[in-house]
Amino acid sequence: MPAPGDGSAVAGEPAGAGSATIAPSATVAPGAYVEAGACVEAGVTIDAGAVIHDGARIGAGTRIGAHAVVHAGTDVGPGVVVEDGVVLGKRPRLRAGSSAEGDAPGALVIGRGATLCCGAVVYAGAIIGAGAIIGDQVQVREGATIGERTVVGRGSAVEYGARVGAGVIIQTNVYVTGLAIVEDDVFLGPGVVTTNDDTMGRHDDREPLRGPVLRRACRIGGGAVLVPGVEVGEEAFVAAGAVVTADVPARMVVMGVPARVVREVLERDLIERWR
Ligand SMILES: CC(C)(COP(=O)(O)OP(=O)(O)OC[C@H]1O[C@@H](n2cnc3c(N)ncnc32)[C@H](O)[C@@H]1OP(=O)(O)O)[C@@H](O)C(=O)NCCC(=O)NCCS
Repeated sequence: MPAPGDGSAVAGEPAGAGSATIAPSATVAPGAYVEAGACVEAGVTIDAGAVIHDGARIGAGTRIGAHAVVHAGTDVGPGVVVEDGVVLGKRPRLRAGSSAEGDAPGALVIGRGATLCCGAVVYAGAIIGAGAIIGDQVQVREGATIGERTVVGRGSAVEYGARVGAGVIIQTNVYVTGLAIVEDDVFLGPGVVTTNDDTMGRHDDREPLRGPVLRRACRIGGGAVLVPGVEVGEEAFVAAGAVVTADVPARMVVMGVPARVVREVLERDLIERWR
């Protein structure tokens, strides 16, 4: 039998194991399953078909949508919205010799007030900052960090070990490659592609991958491609469709294939004017 608190706020009888800790004010819909060892705090609602695995914590006031799955050990902060069909704490499935191989990922940690939209998949060992919005069908891999208030648009992928800062806007279908560094307030337009391996897999283990570095408040236009290891300077602007093959100096506008400097970003376009 489950441990549904005093039962008064429980819509029907949740399936679950005896030693889960479920606060009396939590609501667990019929057909949801809270495994032994999970902890569900006050005011949480868990919709039908959701599964909360052993050792997961669901912080106070968090809403878990229908058919969402929270894997073992995941720590979901208070006031988080987890929409239908989200998977939290997925273990990576890697091919032999994958460059993403390493230590077992730790727990997934989700900060206060974050939103995870329908069908998002966030891996064990990722960190999602407070107030971040992870869009529909986004994938965030193990070891990736997403800063506070950052928005990751629909269908985008943030690969293993990528570090995305605070206040970043990542639009639809963007590929943030493994080990990329994306500093605060960066803007990535739709379909931006970043890369980290010039050999496309034909290198030995000692050769490190080279993620790009996107400095604070730079902007990358839709469909731009960044080759491995380039650095885009603070407040730089990469035009739509550019292929960036060399570092972009701070505050410069680059365009074309390959991207070339065409002018400076105007004073009135700097981020301080637009906060
Ligand atoms: C760079 C950008 C702002 C246009 O700049 P602009 O200075 O207004 O450009 P203009 O229209 O005056 O064109 C100046 C020249 O640059 C060329 N040009 C303009 N945009 C270009 C681009 N993205 N790539 C290559 N060349 C471009 C023009 O063809 C023109 O060439 P010409 O002088 O030989 O005729 C625009 O192309 C862009 O990239 N916007 C970003 C849109 C985006 O991705 N937003 C993301 C959220 S939706």
